[in-house]
Amino acid sequence: MTDTTTTPSGTDESGTHASGTHASGAAELLAGFEATIARNDRVEPRDWMPEGYRKTLVRQVAQHAHSEIIGMQPEGNWIGRAPSLRRKAILLAKVQDEAGHGLYLYSACETLGVSRGQLTEMLIEGRQKYSSIFNYPTLSYADVGTIGWLVDGAAICNQVPLCRTSFGPYGRAMIRICKEESFHQRQGYELLMTMMQGTDEQRAMVQESVNRFWWPALMMFGPPDDESPNSAQSMAWGIKRNTNDDLRQRFVDMSVPQAKALGVTFPDPELRWNDERQAHDFGQPDWDEFMQVVKGNGPCNTQRIAHRRKAHEDGAWVREAASAYAAQQASVREEGVA
Ligand SMILES: [Fe+2]
Ligand SMILES: [Fe+2]
Repeated sequence: MTDTTTTPSGTDESGTHASGTHASGAAELLAGFEATIARNDRVEPRDWMPEGYRKTLVRQVAQHAHSEIIGMQPEGNWIGRAPSLRRKAILLAKVQDEAGHGLYLYSACETLGVSRGQLTEMLIEGRQKYSSIFNYPTLSYADVGTIGWLVDGAAICNQVPLCRTSFGPYGRAMIRICKEESFHQRQGYELLMTMMQGTDEQRAMVQESVNRFWWPALMMFGPPDDESPNSAQSMAWGIKRNTNDDLRQRFVDMSVPQAKALGVTFPDPELRWNDERQAHDFGQPDWDEFMQVVKGNGPCNTQRIAHRRKAHEDGAWVREAASAYAAQQASVREEGVA
């Protein structure tokens, strides 16, 4: 909605006063917004948007940003124990990328009128969530490879359609993030391929890791469509472009030939090709476990949040110093102008 000619004339562009007595103005604003969505145009921060759209986006983009930042922890766990300088450098680069993804997404979220400080508070107080997958521990070095292959792979399936999401700053952040995620996926796959060409112990380590991560990776797409109450509205608003089950199917179909090339299996006795559907049939993850994780009872949730809280508190002096420096620079500039 960047074209100002699409904004109804004579109305408050911010939309904040367009309610109550201005009923016809509100209807015009809503019609303008819906026309933008129908044209598959982007909604931009200064455009009027329904409050429900803004709230849904804040929730989704914040949850996404938190996932990038919390996702640094399980892999960061292996930086000091990477088996070679090359592997350490790759893992460091990957974990740094995730910090960058968090920053792009917090910035996108700030354009919706909520500050990064508020978002961080909501995360460490447990009022906003992060992806269920980062509740699981990284027990062996093979997990670094499995996370790259399956977790970043699932993230790519989820995120490529989000490059076309209706909110401009979110969609543009996703374009860059997806490019980096595909590097992450390949580094994970290459790591596992190297281990699979090693010893029997290494091959067993890879298979054990894949066994642990397969079901949590499938959960990353969210609950089944018939139990996903917000999906229909998110699709209607162009925030979401595909349903959870569609994306999960796409991920399974993509992963099966990759597993075959690698020489590993997935722990699902129901997994088989369905010629009629031209797709794989597969079993359901343990949705009770998923609900427990979503409620904050995931295996590593307490540890992840405590670690994030400590990092936030330890960084307070940096934020204070940066604010003091910015204020000082502003007063120097003002004096220069006067
Ligand atoms: Fe990421
Ligand atoms: Fe990633």
